[in-house]
Amino acid sequence: MQYRRLGRSGLQVSELSLGSWVTYGNQVDTGAAREMLAAAMDAGVNFFDNAEAYAGGQSEVVMGEALRQLGRPRLNYVVSTKFFWGLDRAKAGQPRLPNRQDTLNRKYLMQAIDGSLKRLQLDFVDLVFCHRPDPFTPIEETVWAMSDMIRQGKALYWGTSEWSADEIRAAHEVAERHHLHKPVMEQPQYHLFHRKRVEQEYARLYDDIGLGLTTWSPLASGLLTGKYRGGLPEGSRGAMENMAFLRDNLLSPEKNAAVEKLEAIARDLGGTVAQLAIAWVNSNPRVSTVILGASKLEQLQSNLGALDLAPKLTPEVLAKIDEITKPLAA
Ligand SMILES: NC(=O)c1ccc[n+]([C@@H]2O[C@H](COP(=O)([O-])OP(=O)(O)OC[C@H]3O[C@@H](n4cnc5c(N)ncnc54)[C@H](OP(=O)(O)O)[C@@H]3O)[C@@H](O)[C@H]2O)c1
Repeated sequence: MQYRRLGRSGLQVSELSLGSWVTYGNQVDTGAAREMLAAAMDAGVNFFDNAEAYAGGQSEVVMGEALRQLGRPRLNYVVSTKFFWGLDRAKAGQPRLPNRQDTLNRKYLMQAIDGSLKRLQLDFVDLVFCHRPDPFTPIEETVWAMSDMIRQGKALYWGTSEWSADEIRAAHEVAERHHLHKPVMEQPQYHLFHRKRVEQEYARLYDDIGLGLTTWSPLASGLLTGKYRGGLPEGSRGAMENMAFLRDNLLSPEKNAAVEKLEAIARDLGGTVAQLAIAWVNSNPRVSTVILGASKLEQLQSNLGALDLAPKLTPEVLAKIDEITKPLAA
């Protein structure tokens, strides 16, 4: 495992990391989480991604308890959380709950961090993200709140997730003007079928403001494992009722045909298509860390094998991968 700076910050994160969306609190209980965290740490993974909204707070509870049981030195790992959606949501058709959901206002953020720390059983999180932009709160108010969270010692670095380049730059400028803590990282979706934001929209930000990336869904929720080529496998993410919104993409005939072609390339290199897809994300030097997801220990162990494939992604191989996937990529 190699370690990369999180953007221009001094923090070193493992090139592969592990997240808990969908899995912790649903498919993965505390015992399984402990096993996977230990396996990841033993392989050199030092960053574990979470969010307040995952499993309505249960994902933080599971990760916090598993970390406590493992008892590894706190200096050895980096934990994140994210805020925006909140823990409580109004029922469909009802008005939104004020200051509790879909917001980055100061009141919500300053209270949300305390709830996350309690669930995680931590004194501080290393990284805290604004999980989406909030067009109804002035960016200045959000930047002050995030910076104050750091000043209070409750978080060490802050960043954004799925903000536009303009919004990130605006936040950076507010922080600079008022000598506040600046956003250092963004968490965007980035995989073979989703590229433009990372490769084009953010292009100037890497050198201009030193933006680091913790990228999500390297396997497009499992599409890039090849398991959806024959339809929806039982027990998969795509078969989960509350994940139905992913199905069109997971079952796309064009993308699954492309995955079949990628499988042949992966086989030639001695790996799986999932390893190839993860190694491809990792081959972009702008990516500080690729956040993996796994519902089972064997998936995690297999996916960590992407590191063995990484040196085999020569310019020729990358060109072949581009030819297959670029026409289908957003
Ligand atoms: N900031 C954001 O808005 C945002 C959004 C999404 C995710 N994230 C972060 O990014 C992390 C990773 O995202 P992700 O979970 O979507 O990653 P992913 O790698 O695209 O998908 C992971 C899922 O694919 C399936 N899978 C993985 N490896 C497999 C293998 N070898 N064989 C068969 N199936 C396999 C598993 O689902 P099943 O076994 O259930 O099919 C697994 O949970 C999340 O945990 C979260 O921390 C952030």
